[in-house]
Amino acid sequence: MEDKKNIEPVLELKDLKKSFGENAVLNGFSLQLFKGENLVVMGRSGSGKSVMIKCLVGLMQPDEGIIKIKGEEISSIGHSALDVLRTNIGFLFQGSALYDSMTVRENLEFPLRRHKEKLQLDHNTEALVLEALENVGLAKAIDLMPAELSGGMQRRVALARALILKPEIILYDEPTTGLDPITSKEIIQLMRSIQKTYNTSSLIITHDVDCARVISNRMILLVDGINYAEGTYKELSSSTDPKVQAFFKN
Ligand SMILES: Nc1ncnc2c1ncn2[C@@H]1O[C@H](COP(=O)(O)OP(=O)(O)OP(=O)(O)O)[C@@H](O)[C@H]1O
Ligand SMILES: [Mg+2]
Repeated sequence: MEDKKNIEPVLELKDLKKSFGENAVLNGFSLQLFKGENLVVMGRSGSGKSVMIKCLVGLMQPDEGIIKIKGEEISSIGHSALDVLRTNIGFLFQGSALYDSMTVRENLEFPLRRHKEKLQLDHNTEALVLEALENVGLAKAIDLMPAELSGGMQRRVALARALILKPEIILYDEPTTGLDPITSKEIIQLMRSIQKTYNTSSLIITHDVDCARVISNRMILLVDGINYAEGTYKELSSSTDPKVQAFFKN
């Protein structure tokens, strides 16, 4: 990672702190995501992974700390500039969070409509929706309702929705949780092919050690509210620190 020291990260968190009453969840968590890399954050259930990612996309306000997207500190820029920056970020929510009362097509049109003016998308959105669905192998599901899809298909549609604006940065919150091993592998393969095709930078939150091994260029372990350990899968999985080892034991 030495060679990356002089490169501006596409995403940066510095000393992020967030408490809920007495519950200090993040106690100074930092990370840097560099262009084109797959960075995995692992942490136990309840350690604050989703809280961290929600702070990143503005769904939650941190108590303290600095958040930078493409070098811009997000507290210091105006709302409209912030919105434009955020169109560069795709977010795959934990679960899938599709809108149940909308068809697959309408779910995918949703982010397009929201950012229509900024993106100058006056041409037909049909082609974009189809392209996004083709990327995840689900063009045939375009007119179905979420309830008519399997869990794995829902996850793929959610992925298509996260990708439809061709974001430079994708945040994945537990992309494989709740899926069977084979479907998990398919999702991981999709994530890798998307990264290759679009050279996206990805921040992947997962419990899934196999997912981390296959997809990560680098990993951060979130323990006690801080970035407790960082390194490649190989480095971390051979660590002698018991808190680090605990992640890799079955
Ligand atoms: N809106 C909220 N109000 C109060 N407490 C919250 C809120 N959101 C999260 N928390 C608390 O913050 C802690 C971290 O939650 P978070 O959802 O980030 O965990 P996580 O690491 O994503 O866990 P999991 O792996 O199960 O998804 C938990 O103790 C949770 O109860
Ligand atoms: Mg979570």
